[in-house]
Amino acid sequence: MDAISISNVTKTFKIFTERSSTLKDRIVKGRKNKYQEFCALNNVSLNIEKGQTVGFIGRNGSGKSTLLKLLTGILYPDSGQIRVSGKVSSLLELGAGFHPDFTGRENIFMNAAILGLTKKEIKKKLDQIIMFSELKGYIDNPVRNYSSGMYMRLAFSVAIMVEPEVLLIDEVLAVGDAAFQQKCMDQLRNMKQKGTTIVFVSHDLGAMEKLCDRVVWINKGKIVEDDKPKKVIDKYLEYLAIEEDKRLIEEAGEVNKQIEVKQDSSDSFDTNKENQHDEQRWGNRKVEITDVILEDFNGKKKMSFLSGDELLIRIHYKSWGFVENPVFGIAIHTLEHVHCYGTNTQIDYYKIDELSVNDVGEVYFKIPQLNLCGGTYLLTVAIHDENGLQYDFHDKKYSFKVTSLSNEVGIVKIDHHWDRSEF
Ligand SMILES: Nc1ncnc2c1ncn2[C@@H]1O[C@H](COP(=O)(O)OP(=O)(O)OP(=O)(O)O)[C@@H](O)[C@H]1O
Ligand SMILES: [Mg+2]
Repeated sequence: MDAISISNVTKTFKIFTERSSTLKDRIVKGRKNKYQEFCALNNVSLNIEKGQTVGFIGRNGSGKSTLLKLLTGILYPDSGQIRVSGKVSSLLELGAGFHPDFTGRENIFMNAAILGLTKKEIKKKLDQIIMFSELKGYIDNPVRNYSSGMYMRLAFSVAIMVEPEVLLIDEVLAVGDAAFQQKCMDQLRNMKQKGTTIVFVSHDLGAMEKLCDRVVWINKGKIVEDDKPKKVIDKYLEYLAIEEDKRLIEEAGEVNKQIEVKQDSSDSFDTNKENQHDEQRWGNRKVEITDVILEDFNGKKKMSFLSGDELLIRIHYKSWGFVENPVFGIAIHTLEHVHCYGTNTQIDYYKIDELSVNDVGEVYFKIPQLNLCGGTYLLTVAIHDENGLQYDFHDKKYSFKVTSLSNEVGIVKIDHHWDRSEF
């Protein structure tokens, strides 16, 4: 049987573009505030079985909280039907339902009464609620003086102690400290076992995967995926990596434009360049790195990769003089400047005999499998001679992101497998 049924629900908000008119204007001249309609949920249909734990994920502003508010009845849909059966308890915005001037204890009474408990029932559960919240020393202070974590502790404790059949939780757990968050997760698991239907919104995808039977990905007011947690989360992470890639490329484009404007436009070799102040770049510039491009093997520019992806680093150069045996090198560091890897054409016995005056070209560094754990990495690219005399050294000037779909920790992914034998 379904505990929640949402069919063809649409919710629009009015976004006011102009609020200039005064009350006098509005009455005398009949002026109305201008607004645009914004569709926060667009024809959404979803059923949740009794006893299921379902997670909603999606980017900021995708419509998750709006959907929860519709389920609690705080908001009404423009069209479509919503049915929730059973006693509902919700934990939406922080502090919602609390009166700041009342004490924690008074708020428990108010809140639990709103959730449908009688005074007698509340009295019976009061000690339990206070104990779970671990706020005994503060319970007779006005909640105005509570920290956001303390607010959450109180709200969570009330929400679960009323023993709801349907529990709706929107993100708030994130403000709790690690120990309390763990306690909340244990409690949710407990309630799940007892058959409570739980709808859970969070950006903590690890927690989602552990707790939920099913995850729904909402994007721009529409359901994109609705399936087993791992499947949906993997697709969502992949989407985030692509979006992040677009953003980073756009951002890098802007920065490059600014650098191009700043750089002098002469196209002759200038020894003064050596003295130009750039903490991330040095060398005599006899051979110059003119561009560094990161791509996949199909020639698509990228700055965000999935762990295990292909990565091609293209190093464009221009040689201002005759140079024998130039060496091209790369290095990868973490943001904390931990050196992950470094090599060059000399170490790898890839010989480049000479470059003549005004030679231009590119050197490729191909990585068939980028076996790094998730994180942001800094890339160093350099050209020097065989004795280490630097022509052009770009120290951690470039960056790329790696997203991992598995939960390994550390920096490098080492190829491995587990085995077992019994003695
Ligand atoms: N009362 C409102 N008036 C106008 N617009 C609103 C209102 N409530 C929500 N919106 C808009 O609806 C969209 C969806 O908002 P919602 O709060 O549901 O997003 P969300 O998925 O919960 O995001 P987040 O991850 O940031 O919490 C947003 O663009 C938001 O600006
Ligand atoms: Mg929200």
